[in-house]
Amino acid sequence: MSEPLLQVRGLTKRYGDRLACADVSFDLVPGEVLAIVGESGSGKSTLLSLIATELAPDSGTVAYRMRDGTLRDLGTLSEAGRRALMRTEWGFVRQDAAQGLRMAVSAGGNVGERLMGLGERHYGRIRAQALDWLGRVEIAADRIDDPPTRFSGGMRQRLQIARNLVTGPRLVLMDEPTSGLDVSVQARLLDLIRRLSAELGLAVIIVTHDLAVARLLSHRIMVMRAGRVIEAGLTDRVLDDPEHAYTQLLVASVLAA
Ligand SMILES: Nc1ncnc2c1ncn2[C@@H]1O[C@H](COP(=O)(O)OP(=O)(O)OP(=O)(O)O)[C@@H](O)[C@H]1O
Ligand SMILES: [Mg+2]
Repeated sequence: MSEPLLQVRGLTKRYGDRLACADVSFDLVPGEVLAIVGESGSGKSTLLSLIATELAPDSGTVAYRMRDGTLRDLGTLSEAGRRALMRTEWGFVRQDAAQGLRMAVSAGGNVGERLMGLGERHYGRIRAQALDWLGRVEIAADRIDDPPTRFSGGMRQRLQIARNLVTGPRLVLMDEPTSGLDVSVQARLLDLIRRLSAELGLAVIIVTHDLAVARLLSHRIMVMRAGRVIEAGLTDRVLDDPEHAYTQLLVASVLAA
């Protein structure tokens, strides 16, 4: 087993007297795909925001293995250091594409500005890399100057993926990246995520309420309920032989649907 890329310990967040995230701990190794599943309001998005350090926990820590091999508590990074890390090493694909993209900027600009954030200034190289990534996510080259307002839902999610992967991140967070898409579009997007994550050796944390998505993409699953992780383990084990009554219910409800 390789050393963890991410180490989450005791993350806890309250809203008033509601526990949105309760003492969540786990490790993620490089290249691993972890699915977080659970019903609406169980705390999945809150957990992602805490991991991405967009939200401050009441208690608990998130540590990340830097390129030099040291495990760094993200709570101790400066704001600039934190932003630089998010811009270069991490990606975050949002459920709502309008939150993850700049809707008034061209598709090429959406991808290119991430490269500029890394210090790339050569227009030709930026455009060539943007074109390459649009191709990889199956967006036609002649759409490079169109803003995402002219794209379908599936194209917007593919553009988010291109924008997030162009910088060569090691960890990508995804919040329901395929929800709201029709079944055939969803299947192609899932296939794309699976191929790219395997090809690039990406670690992925994917939030989904869809167990079929978790089954297809993930190595491991964490089941959340009311802010707590009630069951975690290898995906096939959890879905084929769930231990917790709530997970059994989730699996049974999918089988009955
Ligand atoms: N900004 C906030 N202020 C107050 N309560 C919040 C806030 N954000 C989330 N909550 C509450 O925290 C709990 C967890 O919410 P969260 O959005 O993390 O759930 P989720 O599992 O992502 O749900 P969904 O599947 O619907 O996206 C919910 O009870 C929610 O009402
Ligand atoms: Mg959510």
